[in-house]
Amino acid sequence: MIELTIDGKRVQARKGEHLLAIARREGVEIPTLCHHEAVEPSGACRMCMVEVTRPDWEGWSKLVTACNFPAEEDLIVRTRTDKVMQTRKEILELLIARTPGSQLIAEMAREYGLDHPTLTVGELSEKCILCDICTRVCQNLVTGAISRINRGVEKEVNTPFAEVSDVCIGCLACAKSCPTDAIEFKQVGLERTIWGRTFDLVPCTQCGAPTLPKEQAEWLSERTGMKVEEYFVCVKCKAAQTARTYENIAW
Ligand code: SF4
Ligand code: FES
Repeated sequence: MIELTIDGKRVQARKGEHLLAIARREGVEIPTLCHHEAVEPSGACRMCMVEVTRPDWEGWSKLVTACNFPAEEDLIVRTRTDKVMQTRKEILELLIARTPGSQLIAEMAREYGLDHPTLTVGELSEKCILCDICTRVCQNLVTGAISRINRGVEKEVNTPFAEVSDVCIGCLACAKSCPTDAIEFKQVGLERTIWGRTFDLVPCTQCGAPTLPKEQAEWLSERTGMKVEEYFVCVKCKAAQTARTYENIAW
């Protein structure tokens, strides 16, 4: 274990542990946008900037991204200095101009004193901050159906050539992990539509409620060894099944 200081408090950590994880454990709040526990940090959004120095740096300090900066013995971390707050404010100024449709960014911007943003470069409904959480989740954990496409102001997250993807399994991992709810999907009855493709949801074998797309169940089955049919029981019926199992155990 090593010791470092965060906002004046001496804390313990594993060498190399990221500053964000240590700060969160110690109850110190650092804003993040592109961070997601399920994937490796990318350092893309810069919202988690903090200022670090060391006793032997003779007053010199630097800004680093807390989500991927490794802890070192005796590091001194300050999470709310003027430099840090100004940097986060400038990032939010750019983000709010790009994504006027995002409520999350508007709320964060207000916290940093940006009540009346003037500049708008994105469409009024635009919510995507290009944090790449969805693409990293899809590429690293699911099927790699989406990525960034186009360049410059046209840059966006989509399926290749913005065409209907035959790789997508309709799992919603992208939409559910998006911090700004930028990925639209629709679920009505036994149909789920995302990225321009409509998936049939298999009805629960016990109560008929929607479960998963067949494509997602097959993908899961291949990786877990469970039978595809086992995925076609809804959460409620599974819970009831588990409860019955416990009832039947002679304690
Ligand atoms: S759609 Fe959401 S998760 Fe994906 S890059 Fe945009 S803001 Fe990030
Ligand atoms: S959360 Fe650290 S750079 Fe985005």
